[in-house]
Amino acid sequence: MTAAPSHLMNTYSRLPFALSHGRGCRVWDTEGRAYLDALAGIAVNTLGHAHPKLVPALQDQIAKLIHCSNYYQSPLQEQLAAKLCEISGLSAAFFCSSGLEANEGAIKVARKFGHDRGIHRPEIVVYEKAFHGRSIATLSATGNPKVQKGFEPLVEGFVRVPLNDIKAVREVASRNPNVVAVFLETIQGEGGINLARWEYLRELRTLCDQKNWLLMLDEVQCGMGRTGKWFAHQWAGVVPDVIPLAKGLGSGVPVGAVVVGPKVKDVFAPGNHGTTFGGNPLAMRAGIETLRIMEEDNLLANAAEIGARLRSGLERELQGVAGVKDIRGQGLMLGIELDRACGDLWGRCAAAGLLMSVTADSVIRLVPPLILSASEADEIVRILCPLIRQFLDSKP
Ligand SMILES: Cc1ncc(COP(=O)(O)O)c(C=O)c1O
Repeated sequence: MTAAPSHLMNTYSRLPFALSHGRGCRVWDTEGRAYLDALAGIAVNTLGHAHPKLVPALQDQIAKLIHCSNYYQSPLQEQLAAKLCEISGLSAAFFCSSGLEANEGAIKVARKFGHDRGIHRPEIVVYEKAFHGRSIATLSATGNPKVQKGFEPLVEGFVRVPLNDIKAVREVASRNPNVVAVFLETIQGEGGINLARWEYLRELRTLCDQKNWLLMLDEVQCGMGRTGKWFAHQWAGVVPDVIPLAKGLGSGVPVGAVVVGPKVKDVFAPGNHGTTFGGNPLAMRAGIETLRIMEEDNLLANAAEIGARLRSGLERELQGVAGVKDIRGQGLMLGIELDRACGDLWGRCAAAGLLMSVTADSVIRLVPPLILSASEADEIVRILCPLIRQFLDSKP
């Protein structure tokens, strides 16, 4: 690669190659090397790369209208909002362009909901190990000191609890009259693929109903079909009040959404919230087509089935291997936790032709496109498992 000094700000550690193009679950770098993509741009490329149904639809939209402001009626926003309401059981949507923006929107919904009820210093219950984004408010809601360090003062109005401990939330409920919402990822992504127990989600739903709090489930990473249902919380049978979405919604085109239920459908009035790019026709078309193709090609069932196959392959190959602590997840959102930091595996896998990532220092994260085939799932197992064993042997 080029030795010229970079003009990019220093925000990412990067592997020493650049991707040039892709097809399905494969991508190629500028030197012509092929990779199997088990990361999908961090749970973004729902339909893989250059999907033959998505590409012409986006080309058609680009040739018609890429952007117009929110000063006009938007049939494409209406269409995508109606679809998101249909699949979530909620009532209305606001569109933005990223996950952190969706979460900022959710935080504003909760605060406004509180103010409207006469709570002038509203507080939101948030979680240890959570990740909600890198704006000042969302990094304040995030439960990772590394993300926050150097950016203090943090935004106030968050109360933190451990995941899956209903007593901790009940305790907050008993002493804090300013709480207006509980805000968590249904499955923590950056925190290490940590699942909220389904029973815990049902208990939270009951508590939120009793206290008139909002249940806000960040499905930016685990939503949009990745777990085998449209939304991960649907495994628990709960209906939240607010669902922030992004990542997989546009299959690579930046699009985020805050989807809300009847309690907060009318919480905003014109002037309360907005964004220039949010809901533009290209982003809306990407969302509409992504959902349409997912239905047409049965990708929820594929995510469930191929996810189960991938998981059982990993379990078979890694069973009893000293140093492998846990294999967990749902559908095509899987984590393999080792007993030691394993950031090195990231580069080793790429050198062997597999793209994945390591999160929370010691958790290998697999979030491939939802079009992953059985043979591609087997290929992930074939490349990854020997590398994990070698890594564990080389770093006792
Ligand atoms: C659960 C969750 N919420 C929010 C975000 C932030 O999304 P974005 O990077 O699009 O701002 C992420 C990103 O990883 C995420 O995993």
